[in-house]
Amino acid sequence: MIKDPLAKALNDHVNAEYYSAYLYLTMSAYANRCGYKGIANWLFVQAREEMAHGTHIYQHLLDRGATPSFADVKAPQASYGSIKDVFEKVLAHERHVTELINRIASLAFNENDHATYNFITWYVNEQVEEEANADELVTKLRNAGDNQSLLYSIDAELGARQFVDPFPQTDA
Ligand code: FEO
Repeated sequence: MIKDPLAKALNDHVNAEYYSAYLYLTMSAYANRCGYKGIANWLFVQAREEMAHGTHIYQHLLDRGATPSFADVKAPQASYGSIKDVFEKVLAHERHVTELINRIASLAFNENDHATYNFITWYVNEQVEEEANADELVTKLRNAGDNQSLLYSIDAELGARQFVDPFPQTDA
């Protein structure tokens, strides 16, 4: 059985992951409206991943005898200055999520909850990849500047991304 403070932190993080999904769906809509269908695809796939991240925590709470609860998901910013602005905000957001995950990992460690500590380690590692991906895209977009042919080449590259369920057949 998981203890209440840790269950609450995990529950709050379900909401944070769903907020990430809302944020990336909003960004995807913005990219679509700007005519960058490939970038919109990348962000849409990212949103689906975030939903999977949240739902996997929901399942862990159930598995550990807690009852997940749901709070309002904050509405994300709807408009952006540019595609580069979008990815700078993706990077800042992922850095924030890393801090949230690290807090949960510290709490699980301090409470001697090895099952949750082991569980959250996947997210700790995932954040390394999330930040690296966002950082790489910010660099590419800064380098591209207003060069439309470079921007469309990034768009084509990101259009190839496909959703892969990070937790196949582990959640109900
Ligand atoms: Fe679920 Fe982008 O972190």
